[in-house]
Amino acid sequence: MDMMKSPVDPAFRNDVLSCFADQQHAIPARWLYDRRGSELFEEITELPEYYPTRTETRLLEQHCPDIAKIAGPERAVIEFGSGSSTKTPHLLRALDPAGYVPIDISGEFLAASSRELQTVFPDLPIYPLEADFMRHLQLPEEVTDMPKLGFFPGSTIGNMIARTSVDLLRFMRDTLGEGAQLLIGFDRIKDTDVLVAAYDDSAGVTAQFSLNLLHRINGELDGDIPVDRFAHVAVWNDLYARIEIYLEALADVRFAIGGDSYAMQKGQKIHIENSHKYGLRDARLMLRAGGWSPIREWSDKDDYFSLILADARPFKNAP
Ligand code: AVJ
Repeated sequence: MDMMKSPVDPAFRNDVLSCFADQQHAIPARWLYDRRGSELFEEITELPEYYPTRTETRLLEQHCPDIAKIAGPERAVIEFGSGSSTKTPHLLRALDPAGYVPIDISGEFLAASSRELQTVFPDLPIYPLEADFMRHLQLPEEVTDMPKLGFFPGSTIGNMIARTSVDLLRFMRDTLGEGAQLLIGFDRIKDTDVLVAAYDDSAGVTAQFSLNLLHRINGELDGDIPVDRFAHVAVWNDLYARIEIYLEALADVRFAIGGDSYAMQKGQKIHIENSHKYGLRDARLMLRAGGWSPIREWSDKDDYFSLILADARPFKNAP
């Protein structure tokens, strides 16, 4: 084996091989974010057509003082999937929390962004946690006795189907405990042209982001997929209220992955991402299904994006 190559992630290999073993080709969206994919996503957030990042950042700038008033002092902020976390400073500045726990699966990313944040907030106790937030997790003991505010921006929840979203919200409630609050971003249903343009931009950056998955398969799993024979396709599925992203074969293709041969016919597609959108009350219903009671909601004037603050109250079966 080539000693210079980093080891193959067996979960990635598994997901890719079962994609091509299945009639319905699909690969979980999390594999879009290797180093190159994360760079391309950063580029996406600055595209003129991609409104979510801009809109949510503005909402945070405007309403963090309100949020701080409702949350009160001395909370620990727990951020789920912190990544490079450019939105967090707004919240931390307004809230002046007693501690900050960024959670991410990529330890590398986590260490770098924590260091950077520490220079901006020298007095803030930061306790980075390398973990998969889709599983039950143990918070650092330094924050166990503090009241908590979960932070889940970016409409990251939109990548998940409804039942997975509800599972995650329940996990978060378990992790943060009764009395906790959660600040979470939801992308709203809007004009289909605006939605499709946000996921199929004119500069083709989103297409590169999708196609990078095939490059990643070729590089990490010893494949020879002809990437130029695939096109990025974004469609609105109204029944499920989501943008669906596919890689579509532009011709009949044959390729190998790790020594095994595969074929796809012209027009056949690989489903690589969902981005769910939420109507006026959909997001609040989702939160309540996951054990969170909405307290307040902030939206921009066009209702393109919503920030919702919710809390974890004792469960009452009715009325
Ligand atoms: C990171 C899941 C919020 O769905 O808008 C953007 C991912 N994919 N363009 C989104 C994404 C293509 C993004 N989320």
